[in-house]
Amino acid sequence: MEKRVAVLQGDGIGPEVTSAAVRILEVVARRFNHTFHFDYGSIGGEAIDSFNDPLPKETIELCESSDAVLLGAVGGPKWDRNPSELRPEKGLLAIRKHFDLFANLRPVKAVPSLLQASPLKEEIVREVDMMIVRELTGGIYFGLPSRKTATAAVDTLVYTREEIERIVEKAFELARMRRGKVTSVDKANVLESSKLWREVVEEKRQRYPDVEVEHQLVDSAAMKLITNPKAFDVVVTENMFGDILSDEASVITGSLGLMPSASVRSDGFGLYEPVHGSAPDVAGMGIANPAAAILSAAMMLRYSFGMDTEAAAIEKAVDTVFEDGHFTADLAGSTDRALSTTEWTDKVIGEL
Ligand code: NAI
Ligand code: MG
Repeated sequence: MEKRVAVLQGDGIGPEVTSAAVRILEVVARRFNHTFHFDYGSIGGEAIDSFNDPLPKETIELCESSDAVLLGAVGGPKWDRNPSELRPEKGLLAIRKHFDLFANLRPVKAVPSLLQASPLKEEIVREVDMMIVRELTGGIYFGLPSRKTATAAVDTLVYTREEIERIVEKAFELARMRRGKVTSVDKANVLESSKLWREVVEEKRQRYPDVEVEHQLVDSAAMKLITNPKAFDVVVTENMFGDILSDEASVITGSLGLMPSASVRSDGFGLYEPVHGSAPDVAGMGIANPAAAILSAAMMLRYSFGMDTEAAAIEKAVDTVFEDGHFTADLAGSTDRALSTTEWTDKVIGEL
């Protein structure tokens, strides 16, 4: 297959970790007979410096002519005092919105050789393998009216049936590719929007008789997420609940630096990025952990290009490199055998 990938490296360690991911994709292309074209665009702080715009129209056009987007990270102290339209994160929000990337996918998977990195007990973390599916373009973060006066403030939580249908369908499709279970999280005992959410899940499940469905209230789900995380396969929820639960879930494995993410829409187009930020404290030192960026590239292959075998090959290579005891400085602990970004990427390439 031939695919075009827009690479938006961004700031800080963004260029270091995306370069590693591109190297991995080049190896995958050779091994599996694909052609990937990589075109580079600006986003975030570096785009503000060059274009006075965190998401220049050149970048939007580049992404529009691509099959998927691979992104590093944005932000850094240099732009922290900028006015809000000239903040690096504005570029991220704008690109998700522009491309209507309504489904945010965050896998949370225990790495067997890194169980001790979690603040939770090993037996709770072992074998955790879930996918949080968060609605990303609706709900209370976007609902109007939204305003504040000296004496009162209002936020509005609105969901249309159509917005719920498309994210719920996504969750069912993902469950079919995984262990066949969907946990829908809402607050249907209180919120009208949650009652509609639950209704839509009940309707949609008719079309997926092979998928097991459960409903959980968000408060109880928050508890179960850390007391028995193994019980979850696909978790689907609205924007704000998903924001909170996905951050909570990221501590299960204990290493933010390993978490990939995808933001996709129904036609397969998507944006793939590590969950971590631009890590200005280690930027430019060649020691950043590229695992999350590499695993984000694997998600791109699976969810945008339908290349399941290729994605699994990358994931297996990463797991093996960890099992063999190779780590970058963030995970190497007290040992002085930490590998650089390039050395660690070479190990993964060796496995591939
Ligand atoms: P951060 O995730 O950049 O860093 C937190 C800590 O983890 C730092 O000590 C950093 O060195 C370490 N770290 C993170 N990723 C790492 C990796 N791949 N390898 C080795 N060490 C890693 O979060 P922080 O410090 O809160 O934010 C730094 C900047 O990044 C800020 O400007 C923030 O706005 C931005 N940011 C951007 C995000 C994005 O682009 N999606 C997400 C979160 C923050
Ligand atoms: Mg958050």
